[in-house]
Amino acid sequence: MNALIEQAPKQLYLDGRFVDATDGPSFGVDDPGSEQRLCDVADGQSADAQRAVEAAVRAQPDWARTPPRQRGEILRRAWELMTERAEDLAAVMTMEMGKSLTESRAEVAYAAEFFRWFAEEAVRIDGRYTRSPAGGGRTIVTKQAVGPCLLITPWNFPLAMGTRKIGPAVAAGCTMIVKPAQLTPISMLSLTSLLAEAGLPPGVLNVLPSTSASRVVEPVLGDERVRKLSFTGSTEVGRELVRQCAPNLQRMSMELGGNAPFLVFSDADLDAAVRGAVTAKLRNNGESCVAANRFHVAEPVAEEFTRRLTEELGSLRVGHGLEDGVSVGPLVSIEQRDKVVELVADATDRGARATTGGSTIEGTGFFYPPTVLADVPPQARILREEVFGPVAPVTTFRDEEDALRQANDTEFGLVAYLYTRDLERAVRLGEGLRTGMVGLNTGLVSNPAAPFGGVKASGFGREGGAEGIEEYLDTRYLAVALS
Ligand code: SIN
Repeated sequence: MNALIEQAPKQLYLDGRFVDATDGPSFGVDDPGSEQRLCDVADGQSADAQRAVEAAVRAQPDWARTPPRQRGEILRRAWELMTERAEDLAAVMTMEMGKSLTESRAEVAYAAEFFRWFAEEAVRIDGRYTRSPAGGGRTIVTKQAVGPCLLITPWNFPLAMGTRKIGPAVAAGCTMIVKPAQLTPISMLSLTSLLAEAGLPPGVLNVLPSTSASRVVEPVLGDERVRKLSFTGSTEVGRELVRQCAPNLQRMSMELGGNAPFLVFSDADLDAAVRGAVTAKLRNNGESCVAANRFHVAEPVAEEFTRRLTEELGSLRVGHGLEDGVSVGPLVSIEQRDKVVELVADATDRGARATTGGSTIEGTGFFYPPTVLADVPPQARILREEVFGPVAPVTTFRDEEDALRQANDTEFGLVAYLYTRDLERAVRLGEGLRTGMVGLNTGLVSNPAAPFGGVKASGFGREGGAEGIEEYLDTRYLAVALS
């Protein structure tokens, strides 16, 4: 076993201790690049979920009373530790998830930054004091921690999606139970021991890897003392979780699927648009809800854009994420690759042409090459479904109205990218695109200091920015009568 994996914790984390699951079951974690088993991890049971709830509920009152500065200092220390150990954290992530080391290093920095950001936000939880309109009374508005939270994190950003939830929960004074993705628990468990080292008290963070999400999620959401759910994952699972929150009316943040359009107008700086397209498409090998899903290009520049994008994507090296010079690692699983293969086959059957890539790489590991599809017809599934892989379907538009119609023709509304040098058009489209985020002449919107989140089937709630901590705070109003 690799030394870093050997040293990493592999048990549940309950009430400040790493422990085995009830009755001792475990499950295997594999490297998608080599298809080798990395290690076994404790498999959380419903009794463990109940223990996690008890620990989080017990720790909640003291934790909410802990001075904000102290909570912020723990996050700040965790940021320092993550920065010092970035190389090890990145290597572990590459092994269990597949992404290249360059991508993993970027994720560790991105993830750590949520801790630094929320360390600063912890001491800025404000309220207000006003005189009532009639003059007699006073209104005092304060913010209070919502209480114990359930945080469910995905496999595509095993650290950053954790810190984006844990950071504001710690800053606000909430305790929590984290359910990491089954495919990538080791990164989250490594983060857990680092947070304990940074001084997070027992019970504040409890971590429950499990092969059965429902087995651990149902007892947690079924307990009315748990007051909030934050979920990043598919829209389908999000809908089910919303149903599960209904009986106890827990607050929810839902960061769900995307289908990001990338619009290129004739007046765009084409070099910048191609660079932005590579960034937006290959974020995390395309396994990201903000990865550009479909490219809509103005007819006069479509051929040139496709040619240049083909050159860029076709020149990237594919291989095991730990190898030097590799830009594109494997997809996370065989199921994920099969889905990409299916969407490409559907598009080519309907007349699309692969100008680079387009067929799976045989051999060990779940590799799929960066692919550009030209002449993609409107009926192709790849324009409607989230690809989650390194495939760029290109289609054209006639004018601004046509571009906006095509961009908005989806149930999703997470992010859109827009390349133009016309300021008036940028503002018109910036306001007309029905998404929570718009990248204007940039292929990257993810930023710990900005509110990340979507509308429509992409969910609700915001993570990061000044908005991120609000999701973990309840507003309380005190009416003061004065004679
Ligand atoms: C996601 O894919 O779920 C999040 C991506 C990001 O934060 O950039």
